[in-house]
Amino acid sequence: MNLISDAGPVTSTAGRPQPVVTRRSTHRRYLMCPPTYFDVTYSINPWMNPAKPTDQPIAAAQWQRIHDQLVSLGHTVDLIPPVPGLPDMVFAANGATVWGDRALVARFRHEERDAESASYLEWFASRGLQVRQAETANEGEGDYLTAGRWLLAGSGFRTDRRAHLESEQYFDRPVIGLTLVDDRYYHLDTALAVLDEDTVMYYPGAFTAGSQAILRELFPSAIIATADDAAVFGLNAVSDGRHVVMPAGATHLMAKLREAGFEPIGMDVSELLRAGGGVKCCTLELHDSAGG
Ligand code: ARG
Repeated sequence: MNLISDAGPVTSTAGRPQPVVTRRSTHRRYLMCPPTYFDVTYSINPWMNPAKPTDQPIAAAQWQRIHDQLVSLGHTVDLIPPVPGLPDMVFAANGATVWGDRALVARFRHEERDAESASYLEWFASRGLQVRQAETANEGEGDYLTAGRWLLAGSGFRTDRRAHLESEQYFDRPVIGLTLVDDRYYHLDTALAVLDEDTVMYYPGAFTAGSQAILRELFPSAIIATADDAAVFGLNAVSDGRHVVMPAGATHLMAKLREAGFEPIGMDVSELLRAGGGVKCCTLELHDSAGG
């Protein structure tokens, strides 16, 4: 929970207005997949162009910096072994949705990623979680984001709307369906990030008018991203409630976050972006019982 200062806005000696809200970080547990086999060898979103291959060492360094940043913030990062021939497996966010003692493993929309699910089924089962694979297309935390009591669920490009009902029943949590309309923002986590239990940031243009209305109603104090913020994947961010690890190009969004009392930490994701990925895509948050 955030502490709202009862003194209202205060002014520093330098005359600069200070944030009115003190943001609190909480310990998180993430699952990441090393980028050993990362490449762009097929195209399943508008960012991917196999004719322009990635620079593997640079991509690996960018991934490592995200990993090390999360560790240096005090969070726990588990690793799932990468599999040869699965170049998108580095985007661990898509592997599953996890809550409490349950993991719902992805059923990928495209056959190019289909084989990733087996690794996640095995990984979660070996950790003693109740686990099963989703019945219809469901791309895990790419399209499912936990915000307080709600499970925000994207559809439109990857996750099937029918999968929302399955998730609602499996996790026994209320699901809020949000429909994406711009194919550059094909997963919910490319258009919206959860900053803390009741704060989100999002790019309205990625959503239908109806979904924009839901977001305005649920999150009246949301931080609104511009088209430019979205285009550099600024919304593909990981927040611990205070620190927001995110693509460095989103300078406007970072300023807004600072004003709201968050601490944005910019990361270079240029090579990951060639596959349509950023910080959050590489990070599956384990909202499990062990994680607290
Ligand atoms: N190339 C991958 C795909 O199109 C990128 C996945 C990005 N992941 C994410 N959580 N948005 O599936």
